[in-house]
Amino acid sequence: MPYVTEANLTDIARERWNNIPDPRLRQVMTAAIKHLHAFVREIEPTEKEWAAAIDWLTRTGKMCDEKRQEFILASDVMGVSMLVDGINHRLATGATPSTVEGPFHIPNSPEFKDGQDMARGAPGIACFVTGKVRDLDGKPVGNVLLDIWQTDGEGLYEAQREGKNQYMRGLYHTESDGAYVVRTVAPIGYTIPMDGPVGELMKRTKISEYRPAHIHFCLEVPGYHRIVTHLFQKGDKYLETDVVYGVKEPLITEFVKKPAGSKAPTGETMAQPFYEVHYDFVLQKKAAQKAVKAA
Ligand SMILES: [Fe+2]
Repeated sequence: MPYVTEANLTDIARERWNNIPDPRLRQVMTAAIKHLHAFVREIEPTEKEWAAAIDWLTRTGKMCDEKRQEFILASDVMGVSMLVDGINHRLATGATPSTVEGPFHIPNSPEFKDGQDMARGAPGIACFVTGKVRDLDGKPVGNVLLDIWQTDGEGLYEAQREGKNQYMRGLYHTESDGAYVVRTVAPIGYTIPMDGPVGELMKRTKISEYRPAHIHFCLEVPGYHRIVTHLFQKGDKYLETDVVYGVKEPLITEFVKKPAGSKAPTGETMAQPFYEVHYDFVLQKKAAQKAVKAA
């Protein structure tokens, strides 16, 4: 083997990293070496710049804990999360599309019955989200777990509210006819966390750091393709510049404002104005998904 030079180092490293029994890991690592070397050859970093990059990655890792995930945020703002999402959820036309999970999902949310209020006194305008979950043939899908999380009416998630546990998130189930009724407060558009290494980087760009108002949903039921998605508020000024590239047209929905004194979907008369959102989700059977991939 020749000794290394700037010219031959990439080939030598790729050959060395080819020595991995697991074929998938071998494919991943040889591609990583190839593209990392190409990246370094293209930008020709100074040693000071390379140290700054390592420092940024180090601080990104240190910023992560059980509630804050700065690496997911980094992946989100560079469009990588949506690319991974797109590759893994090639659903048939008509199925509700997936979108980025984002860094704010917390597992094991409290369970709520149809129509119960998952906002539980959080600030914001009351908002009822109703609809049905169906399959691609239009048949209702019962017992679907809806794992929902969102900001309160001030644009903050649980992770951003000091000392709040089980805040602005909940688990609901569809009835046998596929219907669901969620009571919450309307989310608002928000800026991604700007106090960490990702924010520090974003401040050196002219890229908008805002996300349009949305409610996160994960829909899960045996036999169907699990989807993580959002509902976005139609008319939001950040829809076209979403900092994490998450907006897909079928996920934009009307938040209909109702005046005080109107009847809510739960039957109660509301003393204050509120929003009504109606959305029917369409799930794809697992077998149907295989057929699409094979096509
Ligand atoms: Fe979000």
